[in-house]
Amino acid sequence: MKQPTQWWQNNVVYQIYPRSFQDTNGDGIGDLPGILQRLDYLQWLGIEAVWISPIYESPMEDFGYDVSNYTEIDPLFGNLEDFDQLIHEAHRRNIKIILDYVPNHTSHKHPWFLESKSSRTSPKRDWYIWRDGKEGGPPNNWRSVTNTTVAGSIWEFDEASGQYYLCNFSPIQPDLNWENPEVQEAMFDVLRFWLDRGVDGFRVDMVDFISKDPEFRDEDFEPTSTSDYLTQAKYQCNRPESIHHIRRMHDVIASYPNRVMIGEVPYHATLEQLRNFADPVNGAGMELPFNFRLTYAEMEAKSLKEFIDRYDASCGNDMWPNYNLSNHDRARTSRYGDLAGIAGMLILTLRGTPFIYYGDELNMPNVDVPPERQQDPWLVPETNRTRDECRTPMQWDANAFAGFSKTEPWLPLSPDFQKVNVEAQKSNPQSFLAMYRKLIALRKNTPALTVGSYESLSNIPESSLVYLREHEGEQVLIALNCSDEELIVPLPPKQSDWRVNVSTHMDRDETVANTVTLRPHEGAVLL
Ligand code: GLC
Ligand code: CA
Repeated sequence: MKQPTQWWQNNVVYQIYPRSFQDTNGDGIGDLPGILQRLDYLQWLGIEAVWISPIYESPMEDFGYDVSNYTEIDPLFGNLEDFDQLIHEAHRRNIKIILDYVPNHTSHKHPWFLESKSSRTSPKRDWYIWRDGKEGGPPNNWRSVTNTTVAGSIWEFDEASGQYYLCNFSPIQPDLNWENPEVQEAMFDVLRFWLDRGVDGFRVDMVDFISKDPEFRDEDFEPTSTSDYLTQAKYQCNRPESIHHIRRMHDVIASYPNRVMIGEVPYHATLEQLRNFADPVNGAGMELPFNFRLTYAEMEAKSLKEFIDRYDASCGNDMWPNYNLSNHDRARTSRYGDLAGIAGMLILTLRGTPFIYYGDELNMPNVDVPPERQQDPWLVPETNRTRDECRTPMQWDANAFAGFSKTEPWLPLSPDFQKVNVEAQKSNPQSFLAMYRKLIALRKNTPALTVGSYESLSNIPESSLVYLREHEGEQVLIALNCSDEELIVPLPPKQSDWRVNVSTHMDRDETVANTVTLRPHEGAVLL
């Protein structure tokens, strides 16, 4: 049994979308020196682990998730020297740096692909997946997964060589052929390159897509939605071969001490699939296969309790839980409206590593980006909106361009930035930011909240979620009122009185006896 004492178990992971964190050279796009400049803020907030979305050379057709050189920093973000300095300064502040790693596909402008495409006999032809068409159409019926519908073919025709190449996402992102040992070695070398430079781990993009059915058989069902398709597909993804490759990636990462591998696995993965990604003996052995369930769950007490109980139990003692509410692909936590505070309190007090997305600590809104300013080429299936809404610049202060840049940023600022910003919330003890900071500190200093057990309570008001975290006799109770009515929550017996230590309203610090009264949408942490 693994004891939960690793840094990636005891810390919150803070995701930075580098284009939108801090611009230092006045081009309206965030950069590495910008992240460096804001390390003090992260330290003040209590962050000890940061995941940075891709910073590699890229034509930016998918904003960095289309890599054209895996071992160079894109000039937009800076250079390797800036990167080394960032690692050095982050480590000096006890902050770990996790990079994104995109193994499934490269940019169509990557020299590997240009060479592969150049002729059927190119030595790199087999680095990607090329096939002849069938009966005047694409080689099989597999679908591209970027769209709201799953109608598009996964195959893109190349006039010059008369063959199709496979691309799970879009024609600008051809899939690498992971069954080719040269590809495997080249991609493992990429990991080593960054590990040697001191990175503390990787968030691995679309990791379950890397292997395809060796016979390229047609999927044999008619999908009704993207998520159904991705859950049911047997040949295009969800392959046992992927588990084998992920395991080998993990071996490379784990050959360096104290590193972590986080995997972007299917949003609708079953608990059994999640176990398989994590299982160190028979599965892939990843430390943290993302648990995305809360990115599409309602803040509704009963269904939350049901899922969290099952997930926590399925993790048991040999798999460490993790929770995500938002990221650069999904809407921000402010989508919960009056329940956003509860969402933040929930994720910061569950058993498992919380992933928080830059700006959610301010309750930054999902911005309605006008069509003429939209950048993202894709739509989110559930909302039918582009992902721009959650990628707008960080709101630092009330100055022009929110302290993010000296010029108009690449995506518009949220119109509320003069009120919702770090500086304003730093000086307000009842702000969202104050709550996040307090919860992060409490979590760090309270073993019951980091390594303690999780048990949800029954016999409580219907619209409340109440759970106990416990470690060596130390107890913490979390009571969340998901309704818009006042609720009286009975408290379990304890030797001394319970004390409300944090409320989402940030206005109480009081001892309570047998019950705690929660105002509408109020959450409380009691010690
Ligand atoms: C992942 C990334 C997303 C990207 C896609 C293709 O889902 O999170 O931003 O567009 O992979 O690389
Ligand atoms: Ca810049």
